Amino acid sequence: MMHIPTLIARKREGEILADGEIRSLIEGFTRGEVTDAQMAAFAMAVFFRGMTAEETAALTYSMLESGERFQFSGDHPPVVDKHSTGGIGDKVSLILAPLVACCDCWIPMVSGRGLGITGGTLDKLESIPGFRVGLSIEEAQRQLRRIGVVMMGQTEQFCPADKKLYALRDVTGTVPSIPLITASIMSKKLAESLDRLVLDVKFGSGAFMQTFEQAEELAGAMQAVGNAMGVQVFTEINPMDEPLGCAVGNALEVVESLAIMRGEGPPDLLALVLSQAEKITQCTQDQLLEKISSGQVMDKFCELAIAQNASIERLFEMNVVHQAPVIRDVLSVESGVVTRFDAGRIGQAALELGAGRNKASDAVDPRVGFDTLVKVGSSLERGEVIARIHSRNADDADRAEAAVRQALVLG
Ligand code: URA
Repeated sequence: MMHIPTLIARKREGEILADGEIRSLIEGFTRGEVTDAQMAAFAMAVFFRGMTAEETAALTYSMLESGERFQFSGDHPPVVDKHSTGGIGDKVSLILAPLVACCDCWIPMVSGRGLGITGGTLDKLESIPGFRVGLSIEEAQRQLRRIGVVMMGQTEQFCPADKKLYALRDVTGTVPSIPLITASIMSKKLAESLDRLVLDVKFGSGAFMQTFEQAEELAGAMQAVGNAMGVQVFTEINPMDEPLGCAVGNALEVVESLAIMRGEGPPDLLALVLSQAEKITQCTQDQLLEKISSGQVMDKFCELAIAQNASIERLFEMNVVHQAPVIRDVLSVESGVVTRFDAGRIGQAALELGAGRNKASDAVDPRVGFDTLVKVGSSLERGEVIARIHSRNADDADRAEAAVRQALVLG
């Protein structure tokens, strides 16, 4: 194996690495021969120095090849998926996966945990008592044939390099890098052997890309890798300046997703679900809405939860199962129209309440976060609720309340 400290130093100095060098680094990391400290240093060097399109492609393919891929033989429906680059309150996947499975498509969704200030689909799913995300590829493929949908994480067998690097980036300040995000997302999605993929690329205070132009660059990088591998890739570039929907926090977001599946829930969240599902299915938005209002999507979500070992009774009691010790309304001290509700500050506050991690081995607290968050454009009277805090204790709630007040701008 090559001398890893030299490779890190060369990237630190802005050198372009060869395919074989990147491959060898990722293989060594996957086998445990490249240490976490070395890989974190490499990720930081990439963060500052970037990668060429060729290096990004080599990183993606090496990560893809660190594990096995889904194999689909014989006749089967189109295999499709969706991935977001990460946001605050972004629970689209929880609703979109069962919805798409109701449209004669297979959706083998492989997601991640919370990353930086953004929440992760796996942490949200695991807040449902019993929900198992660590499936083998064989189990996942069997489930896909049976019910058309699976929601799982990276494993030792499936994208092990991303499993390790993702957890490392989360706690080393190395998330917002176009090559690292591209390789992380596209290695997982390519390993799913997809026909169609929709990418929701976020920009703004609650996203890894702060500007539209950066999001466009990230979208282009992911599209190039996907197209080169024969996947039809659709991209959406969406603002992430205010939280999506009205809930942020693991169990609280599951509750809000169930509301959408009952035909209720916030319109901004529903709009994203519909526009992304429309791109990868043959259904119109009206047909998709009908699948929600008829209860098919809720039934499919329950089928998925049962298939992955969750307790359905407890799914519908999440408010009780995960009731936080302190629940506090934050009331507006003045009247006005909400002109800004900073997603970045709310995401950071949710992380500090315990919804995210400080180090890779930390567990998240499913109970904490916010709901009844006010939306930009709405009129607030003095004394009306801006947000409801769910916290472990009063001190945490005090800090979260200060953050909510800083995040809100009234016009
Ligand atoms: N989602 C991922 O899977 N990886 C990233 O790096 C960012 C969002």
